[in-house]
Amino acid sequence: MKKTVAIDGPAGAGKSTIAKLVAEKLGYIYIDTGAMYRAVAWKVLDVGVEPTDGNIVGIAEKLDVRLRFIGDAVRVFADDTDVTDSIRTPQVTALVSKVAQLGPVRAKMVELQRKMAADGGVVMDGRDIASNVLPNADVKIFLTASIGERALRRWKEMKAKGYDEPIEKLEAEIAARDKADSEREISPLVRVPEAVLLDTTGMPIERVVEKVMELCG
Ligand code: CDP
Repeated sequence: MKKTVAIDGPAGAGKSTIAKLVAEKLGYIYIDTGAMYRAVAWKVLDVGVEPTDGNIVGIAEKLDVRLRFIGDAVRVFADDTDVTDSIRTPQVTALVSKVAQLGPVRAKMVELQRKMAADGGVVMDGRDIASNVLPNADVKIFLTASIGERALRRWKEMKAKGYDEPIEKLEAEIAARDKADSEREISPLVRVPEAVLLDTTGMPIERVVEKVMELCG
């Protein structure tokens, strides 16, 4: 039977890396829900309006956010624009948690996410997957790591993309986003009691993938 696998956790815990590899091994679809909120944030910046709640909701309501599965790769589209790379800029990262706090934005994204998971065979990562999007998921994992390690991982990822931001700045940004995501009113980042806690501090990627595969077994 094809399962649904929910992976939640704070910024930079390695959710997308792990979820992608696990989905590949299982022959499942990988759904990056953070990318969907990022696509809305990207559009707000692209339009260039003041990012007020009203403007953000107005843009989100009109925007067609879509994940397209092209072979093994997932591409993120905002209307007809492929935004897969442009949703990873520091500017989008700085705005995304504000976008993700808004009820109408979340309602629209969650509906799309549930539709994509309806037939099972998905690994979905985010903040509220086990607690809200897929409360009946077969496997629930809460992935985390120390803030120092998460900042280092993010620094390496950004460096590979040509950004050289001080690690202290990235750590502060991650801490601020974790706080906003955990304290927001609607669907905050939480570990549901039944989720298996995986602290990946000091763990190589392959080991984490192995552990998750065991839990999916
Ligand atoms: O990759 P990173 O951990 O930096 O973040 P992401 O997974 O791309 O998510 C970006 C932001 O979207 C998060 O900081 C949350 O504010 C929001 N988000 C959310 O609210 N709910 C989700 N299911 C996924 C992401």
